[in-house]
Amino acid sequence: MSAPTSTDAADLDPFERFNRSNGMGRIENPYPVFVELRGQAPIQRADLRAMFGLEVGEPPPGSPPVYTACTYEAVAEVLRDGERFSSQMYAAVMGIVMGHSILEMDEPEHHRYRALLQQAFTKRSLELWEHTLVGRVIDELIDEFIDDGKAELVRQLTFPFPVNVIAGLLGLPREDIPQFHRWTVELISVGIDFEGAVRASNDLKEYLGGFLRERRVNPGDDMISVLAQAEMDGQRLEDEDIYAFLRLLLPAGAETTYRSSSNLLWGLLTHPDQLHAVVNDRSLIPQTIEEGLRWEPPLLTIMRSATRDTEVCGVPIEKDAVIIVNLGSANHDAQRWDNAEDLDIFRKATQHIAFAFGPHTCLGQHLARMETRVLLEKVFDRLPNLRLDPDGEEGPITGMTFRSPTAIPVLFG
Ligand code: HEM
Repeated sequence: MSAPTSTDAADLDPFERFNRSNGMGRIENPYPVFVELRGQAPIQRADLRAMFGLEVGEPPPGSPPVYTACTYEAVAEVLRDGERFSSQMYAAVMGIVMGHSILEMDEPEHHRYRALLQQAFTKRSLELWEHTLVGRVIDELIDEFIDDGKAELVRQLTFPFPVNVIAGLLGLPREDIPQFHRWTVELISVGIDFEGAVRASNDLKEYLGGFLRERRVNPGDDMISVLAQAEMDGQRLEDEDIYAFLRLLLPAGAETTYRSSSNLLWGLLTHPDQLHAVVNDRSLIPQTIEEGLRWEPPLLTIMRSATRDTEVCGVPIEKDAVIIVNLGSANHDAQRWDNAEDLDIFRKATQHIAFAFGPHTCLGQHLARMETRVLLEKVFDRLPNLRLDPDGEEGPITGMTFRSPTAIPVLFG
C-alpha cells in the first residue's frame, strides 16, 4: 500500500497495480453520471468501464452487446432471476484462475454446492469467530499504534484486518499471511496480468493443498476441516471444489470488507456529527453499517449475461448480451431513498443491494456485518476523540469496480 515511486505498471506492487487498474486515485465520484444514466433509462446499451476510461480493450468482432443496469428495479430484476440471467460469463475471466466456483455456477448446480459451502457459515461459527478471532485480530492491530496518538487507518487497520480474519478461519500460520494476501490480489488482477494470476492460482493451490491433505486425515475446527467434512444427500466436496471456493473466498471476503469498513470510517470522519452520535449511542451501529454499505458499496458493479432474448423493465435485451449490474447506482436510486447521495445514518431503514440479491446473494454477509460491528466497537472504545489528522495526506474514496479511500490519517486521544 506504499505510495508508488514509478508510474510504470510493471514497477508497482500487486496491490497498487490492482488499485490503479480499478481507477483508484482517478475516478473520484461516478455518482453524478449514474444520476444521468438513471434519468435516461433503467438499463441501457453502455459499457460503464469504457465510459470512465478504464482499459477494457477493443471488443473482438461478433462480441455480445454490453448493457448497464442502473436503477434499483432493473438491478433487482436481473439479480433475482438466475434463469434469464446467468453467472457463467465469470468462467471466462475469474474461472480460469479461481477454478469452477459457485460464483460462476447457475442452478441447479449452484444450489447444490452453495448448500454444502454454507455449512461453514453457521450462526454458531459466527459467534465463535467473533469471540475467539475477530476481536483479537483488531485488538492486536490497534495495539501496534495506540501509543502514537495518530494512525493511518487503511494501512494499519482496515487493510490487514479481514485477511487476518480469513487466514484465522482457515487455520493458517500467521507468518504466511503477507504472502497469502499477495497471492489473492495477484489472483484478481487476472485482467491486467494473466500470467501472474495463473502463477498465484497454482501457488495458492499448492500451499492450501498441504493443509487440506492434513485436515482430511486430522480434522480440526477450522474452515478447511469443515469443508473437507461437509456432506449433503451423500454428496461431498472434492479437492478441486474446495480449492475453487478458497480462491474465491479470499478476494470475496478480504477485498470487500477492507474497502467497506474504510468507506464507513471515512464517511463518519467526514461527517463528525454522525460519528459523534454513533460513538455515544452504540445501538446505532447496525443502521450505521447498513447506511455505509448503501452510501459507498465497496464493490460497485457485478455482471450477468442474458440466457435468451428478454426484457428488463420493458427494455429489450438480446440473448448472450452482457449486463453490467451497477449496485452503486441502484443504492442511490432517488425513487427509493430521499437525498440518496448523502450519508445519513438516521434515514429510514430500506434494504440496499450492496450484497447483491437472489441466488448469489453474498454468502459472507453476516460475517462482514459482524466484522464491521466489532471493528467499530473497538475503534470507538479504544480510540477516543477520533478525528481526521489535518496534517495527514488523506485520500478520498475513489475507484470504479472496487471503491475505497487510499488513506485515512487520524488523530485520537
Ligand atoms: C462488505 C463486505 C462484502 C460485500 C459488499 C460483498 C458483496 C458481494 C456481492 C455483491 C456478491 C455477489 C457477486 C455476484 O453474484 O456476482 C457476493 C458474493 C459472495 N460473497 Fe460477498 N461481500 C462481502 C463480504 C464477504 C465475505 C466476508 C465473504 C466470506 C468470507 C464473502 C463471500 C462471498 C461468496 C462466497 C460469494 C459468492 C456467492 C454465490 O455465488 O452464491 N463476501 N458478495
